[in-house]
Amino acid sequence: MKYYITTPLYYVNANPHIGHAYTTILADVISRYRRLEGYDVLFLTGTDEHGQKILEAARNAGKSPLEHCDFYAERFRTLWDKLDIKYDDFIRTTEPRHQKVVTEVLKSLWDKGEIYSSNYEGWYCVPDERFWTDKDIVDGNCPDCGRPVTQIEEKNYFFKMSKYQDWLIDHIENNPDFIQPQSRRNEILGFLRKPLNDLCISRPKSRLEWGIPLPFDGDYVTYVWFDALLNYITAPGYSADMKRFGEWWPADMQLMAKDIITTHAVYWPTMLKAAGVEPPRTVFAHGWWMVEESKMGKSLGNAVDPHFLVDNFGRDQFRYFLMRGMVLGQDSQYNFERMVDVINTELANNLGNMVSRLFKMIGSYLNGKLPGEGEYTEQDTELVDSLKQLPDSTFELVNSMKIDRALSEINITLNSINSYLETMAPWKLSKDESQQQRLSHVLYIATESLRIISVLLFPVMPGKMTKVLKEFGEEVPPVRGRTTWGLLEAGRPTSKPKNLFPRIDIKQFIKDEKPPQKQEQPKENIVEYDHFAQLDLRVAKVLSAERAENADKLLLLKIDIGEDEPRPLVAGLAAHYEPEELVGKNIVVIANLKPAKIRGHISQGMLMAADDGKSVVLLEPAKDIKPGSKVR
Ligand code: MSP
Repeated sequence: MKYYITTPLYYVNANPHIGHAYTTILADVISRYRRLEGYDVLFLTGTDEHGQKILEAARNAGKSPLEHCDFYAERFRTLWDKLDIKYDDFIRTTEPRHQKVVTEVLKSLWDKGEIYSSNYEGWYCVPDERFWTDKDIVDGNCPDCGRPVTQIEEKNYFFKMSKYQDWLIDHIENNPDFIQPQSRRNEILGFLRKPLNDLCISRPKSRLEWGIPLPFDGDYVTYVWFDALLNYITAPGYSADMKRFGEWWPADMQLMAKDIITTHAVYWPTMLKAAGVEPPRTVFAHGWWMVEESKMGKSLGNAVDPHFLVDNFGRDQFRYFLMRGMVLGQDSQYNFERMVDVINTELANNLGNMVSRLFKMIGSYLNGKLPGEGEYTEQDTELVDSLKQLPDSTFELVNSMKIDRALSEINITLNSINSYLETMAPWKLSKDESQQQRLSHVLYIATESLRIISVLLFPVMPGKMTKVLKEFGEEVPPVRGRTTWGLLEAGRPTSKPKNLFPRIDIKQFIKDEKPPQKQEQPKENIVEYDHFAQLDLRVAKVLSAERAENADKLLLLKIDIGEDEPRPLVAGLAAHYEPEELVGKNIVVIANLKPAKIRGHISQGMLMAADDGKSVVLLEPAKDIKPGSKVR
């Protein structure tokens, strides 16, 4: 079983930031889950080193292009090491193995008549290296980056991309998993409704020398995208070792963010088609991490610098937050306070506390030896059953690219283990001679649960989970078979692992912290208008609703409140409404309520409902009105 996964090749024009770290950690986490399942994985990442952007960055730094690339390629590698990223290959587009493949592909496409030369006349954006038509440009500027475009007239070489338009549409339609998520697939199909142009794949050396020369015209270099995309076939051995290439290609998962989906879902498969190579199985475009201002002691630069975050929070904590904090496919607001909150709540308080608590109890009550299995009672069933199905559901969620959901389920299960311990109270059992077997069995259930969870969390937090797994005598890296209930090695001596996840004190990062204001209690139950005006009441449309699995009173809604992205909202309405009844309804929401986490689910806002003590009824606008409309 083989699995080939790639990240984009990052430009070496600046230091890696949180966005690059995200895609690469994501690829690492998926790779590690696949390895856990027994796959042989090829995980490729690397750097994109040709083209105008890089040349300019090198000039600004007063270095030769290659010196500049060496420096930055190393910065990427250093960060990946620091983040515990286990890539199998790191490719640089300036390497001879890659230049050779680019040259060969170009030559064969030229020989087959897939490339032709033609005179180009039009607008060109130098920094973006893109051609634009009259219709595209905005007040003489590039529609993409806003910088001035220049009029050029020159001979160039073109790849006959348009010829593959119908084939590509068919391929996308017949292979629903080719472009993911669905929203991007629709976007590309929409884009393909307009006629596709041929692709200009050359740049005259007189204008740009930093590139791979065209094998059929020495006055030109290859357009950077045509060059860089081919890395994905260079690395597994295209042309150099076709047997090895055949074992890995087609790639199973090509990851990127939505900014570069067109190059990967249109240029790339048509290039491959022309070269007689199969397209990849899946190109997956995740959303963007958006950075908002936050009250940072250090500059915002620090707040998004992966080195700063790893140094202050720990690398596994950082990896966990990034995986937990983005619904794959949607954009996510990066917020420093939220990151601290997730780490403190889910890792320090929940997982970390449980590890120290359990091993402490094993130390005090069982002489530090792992407990053995005893008799199961009805009180144990719920937790044990949920642990028995957790591995399957985790792998299913991960394999369907719902990693945040998988982590949320694990976190919910940790809550259940905590409640189990509270109810069973081993500290009370320990005082009763006749309850010693029960005590050991209760600790067995909690410890075995933790062992299974440590295997499941290993791909996300390999460093910390290694420490826990060692206490259980588990081999590292673990395999999926070790998630079966009942494999805990009874009697094995343990030590007390050190505090795994120290709590983070946000105060050390906050500038100008004001002491909390004392709230003046109003004497009468009357509020000033100003107070009322602080509430941002809005109309929202319910897009989806489902029951929360872990709380029978709650419904989990997604609402459209007139913003770009839907918001999650948790409502205590399950006893009064069926989820289906709510979908499509217009409701009224307090939009600026501080986001809260309710039973593990984020709620951004609160809906308004009338309550007479018996029934609860939603407030709805009397007529249809646009989502986002203000309620006054
Ligand atoms: N060199 C091209 C890719 C060529 S692939 C053959 C390139 N490089 S890049 O350095 O700009 O990297 C873009 C990628 O970095 C995105 O597609 C994404 O994977 C990652 N991200 C950069 N900023 C990001 C965010 N703000 N949020 C999420 N991912 C981001 O494009």
